Amino acid sequence: MFLINRHVSPFSFQPCRDLASFFSLCDKYFVVLHSKSKLMKIIHTVTELEKLLGQYRQEGKTIGFAPTMGALHEGHAALVKRCVAENDISVASIFVNPTQFNNREDLRLYPRTPEKDYALLESAGVDIAFAPPVEEVYPVPDTRIFDFGLLDKVMEGAYRPGHFNGVAQVVSKLFAFVKPDRAYFGEKDFQQLAIVKELAKRLQLPVEIVAIPTVREPDGLAMSSRNQRLSEEQRAQAAEIYRIMRESVLLAGERPPDEVVRFVTGSINNVPELRVEYFGIVDGESLQPVSSWRDSGNIVGAIAVYCGDVRLIDNIRYR
Ligand code: PAJ
Repeated sequence: MFLINRHVSPFSFQPCRDLASFFSLCDKYFVVLHSKSKLMKIIHTVTELEKLLGQYRQEGKTIGFAPTMGALHEGHAALVKRCVAENDISVASIFVNPTQFNNREDLRLYPRTPEKDYALLESAGVDIAFAPPVEEVYPVPDTRIFDFGLLDKVMEGAYRPGHFNGVAQVVSKLFAFVKPDRAYFGEKDFQQLAIVKELAKRLQLPVEIVAIPTVREPDGLAMSSRNQRLSEEQRAQAAEIYRIMRESVLLAGERPPDEVVRFVTGSINNVPELRVEYFGIVDGESLQPVSSWRDSGNIVGAIAVYCGDVRLIDNIRYR
């Protein structure tokens, strides 16, 4: 076992001889327990990525992939840790994909924290961080239009036109570069998860899409890089979103879906800083609204709420 000094440099190692010295040093050092401990590679080009992964694949190694847009937090860490645990080689990408932003200002304001992100990925045990510039992913403009039937006509798809087409463009390209055996996506972006599953199915890709439960702050707010943009007052009020949705699960035992929708929308809109953009109670696979709890065994409530000018999304399971 080695300890890495977190105050000096990530490359300062110290052997640990006995348990007493181990515990006395715990506060000062990151503990490296996994035998896979090796330095993470940071790759910026598709050619280099494909060459390296080709070698691993020839050796019969399984490849796991967690795509992200950076500004990483504990929610991303949950994805990456599962990826590391379940695959021989784990790849995480950091790429702020321009084609999925329908607002230039949102793209410009998207937080970029590469050094912090690399440190988080490395400490989670990731083997390869893939951080390409835009020209690597889009050497020519991507003009492909994806058809997801009704899946992208509701909720996020209805309020952010073109968003999921951009997600499908980048995810299909990243899958083509990495060719993962498993790819990890968060349930936080519930509709994105459904779209990515459909994408893999339609493109007949041999990839297993693994869903990771939403990681929350202690007061229930779903972790998101956008939470940093909330004022102290807004941040406190944002916790009401999930609190009210949880309360609505109790109400769902005695009231039909349309009443639950009214309860959630009305209660959240009563919080001064919050304004509901949509709240839908939908079938978890087709994403189409349900009118009775008996319509499906898989029912989810999905919401988008403006807190000041910050747009937050979340979801909760009813069945
Ligand atoms: P990004 O918002 O960076 O999220 C990357 C992944 O982390 C997504 O699968 C998302 O669902 C997951 N995630 C984010 N917050 C989470 C939380 N609190 N708990 C659990 N998982 C969480 O989603 C994207 O990037 C992009 O659209 C991408 C798929 C990378 C394509 O550009």
